[in-house]
Amino acid sequence: MAEIIDGKAVAADVTAKVKVAADALLEKANVQTGLAVVIVGEDPASKVYVANKGRTAKACGFHSVEHTLPEDTSEQELVDLVECLNDDPSIHGILVQLPLPKHIDDGRIIQTISPEKDVDGFHFINVGKLGTGETDTAFVPCTPAGSMLLIERVLGKDLSGKTAVVVGRSNIVGKPMFNLLLAANATVTVAHSRTQNLEALCKTADILIAAVGRPQMIKGDWVKPGAVLIDVGINRIDAPEKGEGKTRLVGDADFESCQTVAGAITPVPGGVGPMTIAMLMANAVTSAYRSAG
Ligand code: GUN
Repeated sequence: MAEIIDGKAVAADVTAKVKVAADALLEKANVQTGLAVVIVGEDPASKVYVANKGRTAKACGFHSVEHTLPEDTSEQELVDLVECLNDDPSIHGILVQLPLPKHIDDGRIIQTISPEKDVDGFHFINVGKLGTGETDTAFVPCTPAGSMLLIERVLGKDLSGKTAVVVGRSNIVGKPMFNLLLAANATVTVAHSRTQNLEALCKTADILIAAVGRPQMIKGDWVKPGAVLIDVGINRIDAPEKGEGKTRLVGDADFESCQTVAGAITPVPGGVGPMTIAMLMANAVTSAYRSAG
């Protein structure tokens, strides 16, 4: 049976270190790390994430600001708010929760965030820095950064000689994950919905990243024995066994069958999810240190 990678415990380690760093910056330079989270509309999953981010930011000793805007907020109003946060010296990190309502262009909003405050790592400048290895001054997207930390706990930092398959090519997870694995010397393939023989490809992976957004798609017989399986998916499915109308969270991998084959596996919930928030806190305190020189 696979080792179950405890993302909650690793995330608690990270946030404890972030708090120490944030407290030290406050004491030595009188700078309190400021994180602003902006949410537009009523998406219930987004509301849960944003509440978790606010709670964790406060636990890290941050100045935590939440802007909750109505669904009918105009694109220009959101641009104006982001520009105001860009100019606010008490704010070091800005996160605009995605997805945004359809009438707002995500791309325009992301490119409005100052790259120095872009703790999501989605701005072109940060994407470019990650792609060219300028990670000392970049912000790395939180979910891929957290996934790398979990891989590191099992395999160490250097992935030389390992093959990695990333299933999913999103800007938020798949593409940055490719860059991080490559920078760690893994041999990386990115698979997606047009890939043929996906099952056979997955079976070649020493490190398999499931980031497709399809519940329980990756089955145990797709997994190479002993592989490290990082499940980035968070999907809510019906759970009639828990009672009528009940639901539960599952990943993009079928945990039951995969855990009998993999060497190590992240659970859902309690795997990558908590790491995303922890890495956001790490990016925010990094930003505050950079601003303090
Ligand atoms: N929605 C889902 N994941 C993310 C994320 O990492 N950042 C933001 N801003 N929105 C998200």
